[in-house]
Amino acid sequence: MDTFNWGIIGLGRIAHKFAADLAKTPGAKLTAVASRDMDRSTEFARQYGASHCYGAYEDIIQCPDLDAVYIATPNNLHRENTLFCLAHQIPVLCEKPFSINIHEARQMVQEARTQQTFLMEAFWTRFLPTTQKMLQLIAEGQIGEILGVKADFGFKPPFEPEGRLFNPELGGGALLDIGVYPLFLSTLVLGMPTEVTAKAYIGSTGVDEDTAIILRHQNGALSHLHTTIRMGTKSEAFIYGETGTIHFHSRFHEMTSMSLLREGKRPEFFQFNQEVHGYTFEAQEVMRCVSAGLTESPGLELDYTLARMELLDEIRRQIGLSFPMENVE
Ligand SMILES: NC(=O)c1ccc[n+]([C@@H]2O[C@H](COP(=O)([O-])OP(=O)(O)OC[C@H]3O[C@@H](n4cnc5c(N)ncnc54)[C@H](OP(=O)(O)O)[C@@H]3O)[C@@H](O)[C@H]2O)c1
Repeated sequence: MDTFNWGIIGLGRIAHKFAADLAKTPGAKLTAVASRDMDRSTEFARQYGASHCYGAYEDIIQCPDLDAVYIATPNNLHRENTLFCLAHQIPVLCEKPFSINIHEARQMVQEARTQQTFLMEAFWTRFLPTTQKMLQLIAEGQIGEILGVKADFGFKPPFEPEGRLFNPELGGGALLDIGVYPLFLSTLVLGMPTEVTAKAYIGSTGVDEDTAIILRHQNGALSHLHTTIRMGTKSEAFIYGETGTIHFHSRFHEMTSMSLLREGKRPEFFQFNQEVHGYTFEAQEVMRCVSAGLTESPGLELDYTLARMELLDEIRRQIGLSFPMENVE
């Protein structure tokens, strides 16, 4: 495939960043964009050079030769948008959180498998060079057996009850928006937990604004994870091993720099100066997989996505967080 034709559904903040990164991704072309608003679609297409723009999400299938669609709508729409594209056998890269709950996630994965069409959660940090370096250091035994993970991700956005962060109708709250990052790091290096304990502060709109999570893993390691939209936190991460520590500097989820700290040795510093926001790498993974005829990424398997969705459901059960659309199903 010489040129890989991308479509985007939902033209908000992250769609702009993704489109900007696609422009710097070899072989990628933004071909089609779809919005609820035709004017926004036209302007977005003009800005990024897309040849097709639509004023309704479903119309994106009118575009010929689409190789994949990136779904960048609020959390409550991920399932609907993904199922629609998969039903038309269009490969999908769907933003995190993959869905509102495990029930939705299973439907999406089932449809991908039925249609034998590629599907991947847009967990972009999985494919960053820093993550690859971290996994390499761990595999080389540079820090020994992992004994614990500590990670926080917090910021204080303006309080907008209708916006996607605070609105339960859109699947809001800290956990699904940014809590997924500490959880991802912990489960990537330690595997799925055997025990989960979570506490939260539920704000006036009914979503979690501050959530603390402790995970116990198979080897006895503990993960201490914190996510909040109630206050700014340093947003750092540490992977503690028997013989050393990997420290991701703030803001850890962007993973642009990290240190390897070992007793009796000089600290080693790794810096990844990116000319892109970081979405290039997940886009390249999709392009590589789809071009090779794969229906999922070996680096981010759908079963791993499902396992983390189950974990999110368990945390939500413990903190008493449910969403209006779940109560009608
Ligand atoms: N990977 C990352 O680094 C990252 C970062 C931020 C967000 N995200 C994820 O990306 C998704 C979108 O986040 P965002 O920050 O781009 O949000 P945003 O700026 O609010 O944009 C979301 C877009 O979804 C569409 N939409 C459809 N129904 C909507 C509704 N009822 N209210 C608001 N928007 C609606 C709108 O696009 P149209 O008007 O064009 O239809 C809107 O522009 C979320 O799932 C979020 O978790 C990922």
